[in-house]
Amino acid sequence: MLVSFLPLLALATSALAADPKPPALIYLYSINITIPSTVNLGSVPYGSRGILSISGGSFSGPKMSGKVTVGMDWGLTDTKGTFSPDALYVLQTNDNATIMVTEKGHAPNVQILFETGSSKYAWLNTLVAYATGGPTATGVALDVWQVGS
Ligand SMILES: *[C@@H]1O[C@H](CO)[C@@H](O)[C@H](O)[C@H]1NC(C)=O
Ligand SMILES: *[C@@H]1O[C@H](CO)[C@@H](O)[C@H](O)[C@H]1NC(C)=O
Repeated sequence: MLVSFLPLLALATSALAADPKPPALIYLYSINITIPSTVNLGSVPYGSRGILSISGGSFSGPKMSGKVTVGMDWGLTDTKGTFSPDALYVLQTNDNATIMVTEKGHAPNVQILFETGSSKYAWLNTLVAYATGGPTATGVALDVWQVGS
Protein backbone atom coordinates (compact mmCIF):
# COMPACT_ATOMS: atom_id res chain seq x y z
CA MET A 1 0.00 0.00 0.00
CA LEU A 2 2.76 2.41 1.03
CA VAL A 3 4.70 1.63 -2.14
CA SER A 4 1.94 3.01 -4.34
CA PHE A 5 2.33 6.44 -2.70
CA LEU A 6 6.06 6.69 -3.28
CA PRO A 7 5.98 7.95 -6.89
CA LEU A 8 3.51 10.65 -5.86
CA LEU A 9 5.77 11.71 -3.03
CA ALA A 10 8.71 11.96 -5.43
CA LEU A 11 6.63 14.15 -7.76
CA ALA A 12 5.63 16.46 -4.92
CA THR A 13 9.26 16.82 -3.84
CA SER A 14 10.48 17.76 -7.33
CA ALA A 15 7.62 20.23 -7.74
CA LEU A 16 8.72 21.95 -4.56
CA ALA A 17 12.31 22.18 -5.72
CA ALA A 18 11.72 25.23 -7.94
CA ASP A 19 9.43 28.20 -7.48
CA PRO A 20 6.51 28.27 -9.92
CA LYS A 21 7.12 30.34 -13.03
CA PRO A 22 5.81 33.89 -12.47
CA PRO A 23 3.05 35.14 -14.79
CA ALA A 24 4.04 37.47 -17.62
CA LEU A 25 3.24 41.18 -17.46
CA ILE A 26 2.13 42.69 -20.78
CA TYR A 27 2.19 46.49 -20.89
CA LEU A 28 -1.23 47.91 -21.78
CA TYR A 29 -1.07 51.69 -21.32
CA SER A 30 -0.19 54.64 -19.12
CA ILE A 31 -3.01 56.86 -17.95
CA ASN A 32 -3.46 60.33 -16.45
CA ILE A 33 -6.74 60.62 -14.59
CA THR A 34 -8.01 64.13 -13.87
CA ILE A 35 -9.59 64.59 -10.44
CA PRO A 36 -10.95 68.15 -10.16
CA SER A 37 -12.67 67.85 -6.80
CA THR A 38 -13.05 65.72 -3.71
CA VAL A 39 -15.89 65.55 -1.23
CA ASN A 40 -14.44 64.47 2.10
CA LEU A 41 -16.76 62.43 4.27
CA GLY A 42 -14.31 62.77 7.11
CA SER A 43 -13.77 60.10 9.71
CA VAL A 44 -15.84 57.01 8.98
CA PRO A 45 -15.69 53.69 10.89
CA TYR A 46 -12.61 52.31 9.05
CA GLY A 47 -10.67 55.51 8.34
CA SER A 48 -11.40 58.57 6.26
CA ARG A 49 -13.28 58.45 3.00
CA GLY A 50 -13.25 60.88 0.09
CA ILE A 51 -15.46 60.88 -2.99
CA LEU A 52 -13.14 61.90 -5.82
CA SER A 53 -14.84 62.92 -9.05
CA ILE A 54 -13.08 61.88 -12.26
CA SER A 55 -13.73 64.36 -15.06
CA GLY A 56 -11.29 63.34 -17.78
CA GLY A 57 -7.77 62.38 -18.65
CA SER A 58 -5.93 60.46 -21.32
CA PHE A 59 -4.29 57.08 -21.79
CA SER A 60 -1.83 55.80 -24.31
CA GLY A 61 -0.17 52.45 -24.98
CA PRO A 62 0.76 49.86 -27.60
CA LYS A 63 -2.70 48.28 -27.75
CA MET A 64 -5.07 51.11 -26.84
CA SER A 65 -5.16 54.89 -26.53
CA GLY A 66 -7.83 57.47 -25.93
CA LYS A 67 -9.40 59.55 -23.21
CA VAL A 68 -11.10 59.18 -19.86
CA THR A 69 -14.68 60.42 -19.94
CA VAL A 70 -16.21 60.21 -16.49
CA GLY A 71 -15.98 58.32 -13.23
CA MET A 72 -15.57 58.35 -9.49
CA ASP A 73 -13.24 57.02 -6.82
CA TRP A 74 -14.65 56.51 -3.33
CA GLY A 75 -11.36 55.36 -1.84
CA LEU A 76 -10.70 54.92 1.85
CA THR A 77 -7.62 56.07 3.74
CA ASP A 78 -7.35 53.65 6.64
CA THR A 79 -6.27 54.48 10.19
CA LYS A 80 -2.67 53.52 9.30
CA GLY A 81 -2.60 55.97 6.36
CA THR A 82 -2.92 53.50 3.49
CA PHE A 83 -5.13 54.72 0.66
CA SER A 84 -7.28 52.00 -0.91
CA PRO A 85 -8.75 53.21 -4.20
CA ASP A 86 -12.19 51.96 -5.15
CA ALA A 87 -13.01 53.47 -8.50
CA LEU A 88 -15.17 53.11 -11.56
CA TYR A 89 -14.54 55.14 -14.70
CA VAL A 90 -14.99 55.02 -18.45
CA LEU A 91 -12.35 55.01 -21.18
CA GLN A 92 -13.14 56.05 -24.72
CA THR A 93 -10.62 54.75 -27.22
CA ASN A 94 -9.48 56.77 -30.24
CA ASP A 95 -11.58 54.42 -32.37
CA ASN A 96 -14.62 55.18 -30.19
CA ALA A 97 -15.02 52.04 -28.11
CA THR A 98 -16.22 52.64 -24.54
CA ILE A 99 -14.64 50.55 -21.79
CA MET A 100 -15.66 50.50 -18.13
CA VAL A 101 -12.79 50.18 -15.67
CA THR A 102 -13.14 49.01 -12.08
CA GLU A 103 -10.17 49.66 -9.88
CA LYS A 104 -9.44 48.45 -6.36
CA GLY A 105 -6.28 48.08 -4.39
CA HIS A 106 -3.98 49.34 -1.70
CA ALA A 107 -1.81 52.17 -3.01
CA PRO A 108 0.50 51.89 -4.82
CA ASN A 109 -0.74 48.42 -5.86
CA VAL A 110 -3.91 48.42 -7.91
CA GLN A 111 -5.99 45.70 -9.53
CA ILE A 112 -8.02 46.55 -12.61
CA LEU A 113 -10.88 44.78 -14.42
CA PHE A 114 -12.48 45.86 -17.68
CA GLU A 115 -15.92 45.57 -19.22
CA THR A 116 -16.81 46.50 -22.79
CA GLY A 117 -19.33 45.68 -25.48
CA SER A 118 -16.82 46.39 -28.23
CA SER A 119 -15.85 43.27 -30.18
CA LYS A 120 -12.46 44.79 -30.97
CA TYR A 121 -11.66 45.16 -27.27
CA ALA A 122 -13.56 42.07 -26.02
CA TRP A 123 -10.20 40.52 -25.05
CA LEU A 124 -10.16 42.99 -22.12
CA ASN A 125 -13.30 41.41 -20.61
CA THR A 126 -11.50 38.29 -19.38
CA LEU A 127 -8.20 39.64 -18.14
CA VAL A 128 -6.90 40.95 -14.84
CA ALA A 129 -4.57 43.92 -14.89
CA TYR A 130 -2.09 45.28 -12.40
CA ALA A 131 -1.43 49.01 -12.14
CA THR A 132 0.88 51.14 -10.09
CA GLY A 133 1.47 54.87 -9.82
CA GLY A 134 0.49 57.75 -7.63
CA PRO A 135 -0.93 61.24 -7.31
CA THR A 136 -0.03 64.09 -9.70
CA ALA A 137 -0.76 67.83 -9.56
CA THR A 138 -4.06 67.23 -11.38
CA GLY A 139 -5.09 63.73 -10.31
CA VAL A 140 -3.51 60.32 -10.56
CA ALA A 141 -1.08 58.70 -13.02
CA LEU A 142 -0.89 54.92 -13.44
CA ASP A 143 1.00 52.42 -15.59
CA VAL A 144 -1.14 49.36 -16.41
CA TRP A 145 -0.10 45.80 -17.29
CA GLN A 146 -2.08 42.72 -18.21
CA VAL A 147 -1.16 39.86 -15.85
CA GLY A 148 -0.65 36.44 -17.45
CA SER A 149 -1.82 35.46 -20.90
C1 LIG B 1 0.57 62.07 -18.55
O1 LIG B 1 1.13 63.27 -18.04
C2 LIG B 1 2.54 63.31 -18.17
C3 LIG B 1 3.02 64.53 -17.42
O2 LIG B 1 2.33 65.67 -17.85
C4 LIG B 1 2.92 63.29 -19.63
O3 LIG B 1 4.32 63.29 -19.77
C5 LIG B 1 2.36 62.03 -20.28
O4 LIG B 1 2.60 62.05 -21.66
C6 LIG B 1 0.87 61.92 -20.02
N1 LIG B 1 0.41 60.64 -20.52
C7 LIG B 1 -0.75 60.48 -21.13
C8 LIG B 1 -1.08 59.10 -21.56
O5 LIG B 1 -1.53 61.39 -21.30
C1 LIG C 1 -15.26 58.83 -33.26
O1 LIG C 1 -16.33 59.73 -32.94
C2 LIG C 1 -16.03 61.08 -33.28
C3 LIG C 1 -17.13 61.95 -32.72
O2 LIG C 1 -18.38 61.35 -32.89
C4 LIG C 1 -15.84 61.19 -34.78
O3 LIG C 1 -15.49 62.52 -35.12
C5 LIG C 1 -14.72 60.27 -35.22
O4 LIG C 1 -14.60 60.26 -36.63
C6 LIG C 1 -14.96 58.84 -34.74
N1 LIG C 1 -13.78 58.06 -35.00
C7 LIG C 1 -13.82 56.80 -35.42
C8 LIG C 1 -12.51 56.13 -35.66
O5 LIG C 1 -14.87 56.20 -35.61
